[in-house]
Amino acid sequence: MRVTDDIRYIGVNDHEVDLFEGQYIVPNGMAYNSYVILDEKTAVMDSVDARFGEEWLANLAGELGSRKPDYLIVQHMEPDHSANIMRFLEAWPEATVVSSAKAFQMMKNFYGSDLSDRKRIVVGDKDTLELGRHTLTFVTAPMVHWPEVFFTYDSTDRVLFSADAFGKFGALDVEDPEGWACEARRYYFGIVGKYGAQVQAVLKKLAGLELKIICPLHGPVLDENLAYYLETYQTWSSYGTESEGIVINYTSVYGHTRQAAEELAELLRAKGCPKVAVNDLARCDMPEAVEDTFRYGKAVLATTTYNADIFPVMKTFIEHLTERNWQNKTVGLIENGSWAPTAAKTMKAMLEGSKNLTLLEPAVKITSALNADSRAQLEQLADALMA
Ligand code: FEO
Repeated sequence: MRVTDDIRYIGVNDHEVDLFEGQYIVPNGMAYNSYVILDEKTAVMDSVDARFGEEWLANLAGELGSRKPDYLIVQHMEPDHSANIMRFLEAWPEATVVSSAKAFQMMKNFYGSDLSDRKRIVVGDKDTLELGRHTLTFVTAPMVHWPEVFFTYDSTDRVLFSADAFGKFGALDVEDPEGWACEARRYYFGIVGKYGAQVQAVLKKLAGLELKIICPLHGPVLDENLAYYLETYQTWSSYGTESEGIVINYTSVYGHTRQAAEELAELLRAKGCPKVAVNDLARCDMPEAVEDTFRYGKAVLATTTYNADIFPVMKTFIEHLTERNWQNKTVGLIENGSWAPTAAKTMKAMLEGSKNLTLLEPAVKITSALNADSRAQLEQLADALMA
């Protein structure tokens, strides 16, 4: 598949994976992207998941014709991209592997060799590699989302090979009617979300580059309106508000907390909130709830007191938020408890280390089931959220 006259796509689609990275459902499958640059020297950009080595090598051979690959550039060592390095070297032992010092160390840990007995080039930030017409410049991107990662900029075709950045869930042979952002957002906040500061740092490095095409390691090649993708990454990595709206995340044992969540959603809609997203955390795909909770500027957490703590699914959910550096939000709390409600206190304690959260007081207190008093508190919370 053509990316530019000299750059070809040689990646694969995965419709067999049950959980990507052991935890993310991927109803539309997954793509592991790889590219080859055909110049006086040829350079392969990353490999693919272990199960697709044969298909990938066949794709590569198809593009190379009678030529041989001169370089394999390894931007990221997570096995969905690095698993076929040794297989590549079995097929083409004369090729030179180009990667970062940290990546070569990881190769030793993953695959038993750091390739120091082979042809290899260790590269760092701003190092370049001449292929002929194309000059590649390496841009280190530590912790986006592993420490060894770098991007590669081809100044001839103005192409950025961006490792996992700008990637999304979904195979490339499945039409995604929701467009790029939906599954790119779930991917970003699930996998990269904690590292906003590091993403900001690499976006700063990219600011001076003229870009025509972004080639990520997952998802489609991006070749138009690149400002949109860059701005979206700017918003996500700064934990900004992407969309106006409010997300209500709840857990419910017998339906009373659910009723409170739904009544609050109705109140907010009646007051003109442009979008109210409601997630039953025990039943929804939790990474979807996580992306919603980063997407909107306001969130409500509603749960029950449970074993003198909070309901386990809510506990896990809040951990998903805090470990990803959730910040810059307005937060409403709803607690339910039949004899000693303490859920709001526990949630507050869990959020204590999160930066720049505005907690709306007081928390709504439900004693077993909604009544006139707790409904008045819901009304008050709705007003505070809409203020
Ligand atoms: Fe797509 Fe971080 O591997």
